[in-house]
Amino acid sequence: MDQSQHQRLLIVDFGSQVTQLIARRLRESNVYCEIHPFNLVTPEFLTEFRPRAVILSGGPASVPDAGSPRPPAEIFELGVPVLGICYGQQVMQQMLGGEVLRGEGTAEFGRAYVTPAGKLDLLEGWFDGLESTGREQVWMSHGDHVAKLAPGFEVFGTSPGAPFAITADPSRHFYAVQFHPEVHHTPKGARLYENFVRIAGFDGDWTMAGYREQAVQAIRDQVGDAKVICALSGGVDSSVAAALIHEAVGDQLTCVFVDHGLLRLNEAQEVVTMFRDHMNLHVIHAEEQELFLSALEGVSDPETKRKTIGRLFIEVFQKYADGIEGARFLAQGTLYPDVIESVSFSGGPSVTIKSHHNVGGLPEKMGLKLVEPLRELFKDEVRALGKELSLPPSFIGRHPFPGPGLAIRCPGEITRAKLDILRKADAVYIDQIRRHGLYDDIWQAFCAILPVRTVGVMGDGRTYDYACALRAVTSVDGMTADFYPFSHEFLGETATRIINEVPGINRVTYDITSKPPGTIEWE
Ligand code: XMP
Repeated sequence: MDQSQHQRLLIVDFGSQVTQLIARRLRESNVYCEIHPFNLVTPEFLTEFRPRAVILSGGPASVPDAGSPRPPAEIFELGVPVLGICYGQQVMQQMLGGEVLRGEGTAEFGRAYVTPAGKLDLLEGWFDGLESTGREQVWMSHGDHVAKLAPGFEVFGTSPGAPFAITADPSRHFYAVQFHPEVHHTPKGARLYENFVRIAGFDGDWTMAGYREQAVQAIRDQVGDAKVICALSGGVDSSVAAALIHEAVGDQLTCVFVDHGLLRLNEAQEVVTMFRDHMNLHVIHAEEQELFLSALEGVSDPETKRKTIGRLFIEVFQKYADGIEGARFLAQGTLYPDVIESVSFSGGPSVTIKSHHNVGGLPEKMGLKLVEPLRELFKDEVRALGKELSLPPSFIGRHPFPGPGLAIRCPGEITRAKLDILRKADAVYIDQIRRHGLYDDIWQAFCAILPVRTVGVMGDGRTYDYACALRAVTSVDGMTADFYPFSHEFLGETATRIINEVPGINRVTYDITSKPPGTIEWE
């Protein structure tokens, strides 16, 4: 089944920071949805897309401003349920005959409480599971407010700054809220989405098992009997993409695993063993440690390190790929957040693309077409698909690891000796985290070896060895992060183990920088 056969929901994006969360909530209800910027949603697009329901997102613009964004009026004539969120509510009211006013002391930002009002039973169950009396905690972020309702609408909830916090025209199945039900600070907000899609008649036909079946067919249709190559990094995205493509076209897929000598302890062997021996994939283990390490020997500038690794990676990958006769496709683990066109108010929609893709530029250079079977998925859906494809849970849940590997965890000059010490210290640290059952609570944890040596005393002797820094952060997407609040006991025990078990390190520090102002990696 291709996507056009799924029941589809259209999210019209007006540029809210949290539009993606709406899609997440819907996918949790097994509803297939796509986000499209308002200015690309034309009447022709609507005819083609055939949404079963529409959601109008929030956004930073102000409805009373001339030229502020509008969806096409045809949206309200499709005969399908429409849900407006924040700006989406306001634009809906304005276009259907209501009125939106600017500020005037009614702005609400952050936590607020909505008191339900009116005959909630008119709402066909849209409010099921939420407070019908009392008040409901919600998250608001608005300066303007609806001042006059469009004909046919009634009020079903108010807040101090939004007299029309919840409104609906039940006869046309139009619903609208001033708050953001998609964020965690609206604790029962997910119910509003669940109830909405139920009213819209979605069967919940979007499942990982279904996706797997449909993606396998789509890959077969695209690739035919041509060969596909895949740069396997051992990370979750490329691993799941490879497993899926292998299921679709078997031995037509060859994976190239570039071993740049900057991997963690035993990592290369683990990845190759799993894919080659346990999953029967054709994997070329490109053992190019010497090439990379000699080019990096003595290099200390972070950008030079990254550029050197990026350039060599492409050269190496191309060399191995050239040896695969008949290769016409390159597989990539691109995810949905990388392809969503985000709305920019400074000059039309802009496309957000992952900045550090190791094989960026390769398809054009080598005349290869792309196979991107994860383009419609969010990260946690990729993990669910990995599970569906029987990849081991320990593999699916792995922390992210950067393409340049340990090079950017060795600030200052890179030497083979320092990399060896770093590998051992990192292994002890991760072992500690696992033993204490903390691995899954942490977004990413690693050790960095510092370019300083410090004096210590072990036994009766003086030591003069390297210091290392432990890093552990919590994050949702790697864009912002906070340091993980380990207990002092954990930190003390870990420092003792590293110093005892790793020759070459005699001092351990814990990095308590958040991002911003720091970054997650040290370089
Ligand atoms: P920073 O250090 O920028 O890292 O806060 C954010 C996330 O991105 C990862 N990272 C990379 N991943 N190639 C990658 O594939 C890279 O060049 C790269 N640099 C950083 C980093 O590990 C963290 O998860």
